Amino acid sequence: MSNICVIGMGYVGLVTGVCFADLGNTVNCLDIDHSRIEKLKKGVMPIYEPGLEEVVERNVKAKRLFFTTNYAQALKDAEFAFIAVGTPSGVNGEADLQYVRDVAESIAEEINHPITIVNKSTVPVGTGDWVADIIRKKRGKNALRFHLVSNPEFLREGTAISDFMNPDRVVLGSLNREAVESVATLYQPLRAPILITDLRTAEMIKYASNAFLATRVSFINEIANICEELGADVREVADGMGLDKRIGRTFLDAGLGWGGSCFPKDVKALAHMAILHGTHPQLLQAVMEINHNQRRRVVMRLRQALGGKLVDKVIGVLGLSFKPNTDDIREAPALEVIHLLENEGAEVQAYDPQAMENVAKELPEVKLCKNPYQVAEGADALVLTTEWNEFKQLDFKRIYSLMRTPILMDSRNQWDGNALREIGFTYFGIGQGNQVNNNKRD
Ligand code: UDX
Repeated sequence: MSNICVIGMGYVGLVTGVCFADLGNTVNCLDIDHSRIEKLKKGVMPIYEPGLEEVVERNVKAKRLFFTTNYAQALKDAEFAFIAVGTPSGVNGEADLQYVRDVAESIAEEINHPITIVNKSTVPVGTGDWVADIIRKKRGKNALRFHLVSNPEFLREGTAISDFMNPDRVVLGSLNREAVESVATLYQPLRAPILITDLRTAEMIKYASNAFLATRVSFINEIANICEELGADVREVADGMGLDKRIGRTFLDAGLGWGGSCFPKDVKALAHMAILHGTHPQLLQAVMEINHNQRRRVVMRLRQALGGKLVDKVIGVLGLSFKPNTDDIREAPALEVIHLLENEGAEVQAYDPQAMENVAKELPEVKLCKNPYQVAEGADALVLTTEWNEFKQLDFKRIYSLMRTPILMDSRNQWDGNALREIGFTYFGIGQGNQVNNNKRD
């Protein structure tokens, strides 16, 4: 049993802290956002993450898990301090490290015993050394004995708890063997492969992993666009590819592309690091461009289906979060589609099972609906942007009767196009052969 402090109560920090507590450690979770900490103390989750509330409750009750805004209190008996604050994109796509800096300085100010500092935030390669420098500078003559370990996270929103408890691998980077081994013991109960390397390599593993997953998605989206011209079905292409063990089937679902708080930020940051150090990230640039094009292609398809213009058309949008099972709308493809539609004068009405609170301030022009059927009411077209389970088997006869014109844009390939055409819809998927011909009545 160890004493751990986790700093930064976003989905990474909160899940990390909670799961370490569930493994039997004493964990002090810190955030400088008082309202977030007050909510957590009352058992109110600041984010929607399936299963989180129950694990928090269990560990608070067991007196293993504590929440505070006070650094001295959080660090008092800590053997480990995990940094898990955000590293949002700066103006040129670089990772903004202001929050990491603030935490490093606060630790330096408040700590009064040797400690292992573990960086879980996704930071540009070489930041580990930078954090150590900040701490040394801040301490000055009052040197602190500490080690720094890079421990990147691979948690997916919506499955973060199971991803933490069942990792494919744990990556630890440090030049100090003893420090790395002490962090490795925290992960021992998970019985996962533990890869030990240096700081920079550990930081690069994180970026390269996310960039590769984003590349797979952009690759299959490019193949989907070619399939539409050549009359092939990208869903079966992905199945055929995925049966090859060297390829695998995951992250080959063509659609609206990727969003969220990680892929966009991490791919941009990696490309920025490359440019800064004199290499041209042509593949990463293409991966980002293809991703943005997917949103534009969906809007183009709608414009074509609605007679060449979107002005004054009512477009229903199903799903606002960047993916199902989260309320996170950061860089959500749906929001980009909505902005493109509004720029062309369309009126948008939308619904999401979890993200409605988050979008209210982001989308003042959008009519926020209470359910998918209200979204369909009077709509000239209905777009599926996030594949929530509740959108998968709607009462389409009822949808048909509610819409002004029965046009469906299934940008996540979730619906049965042929069955929907039987009802009388004009149906568009992504990469499902020649979309215009598919809708021609025989
Ligand atoms: C990702 C990484 O998976 C995780 O390891 C890392 O720690 C954080 O970033 P996350 O952003 O939560 O996790 O979502 P993920 O499930 O990876 O999906 C990312 C985006 O890709 C989503 O917008 C999703 O809709 C999209 N996606 C994913 C596709 O468009 N097609 C796919 O086949 C898979």
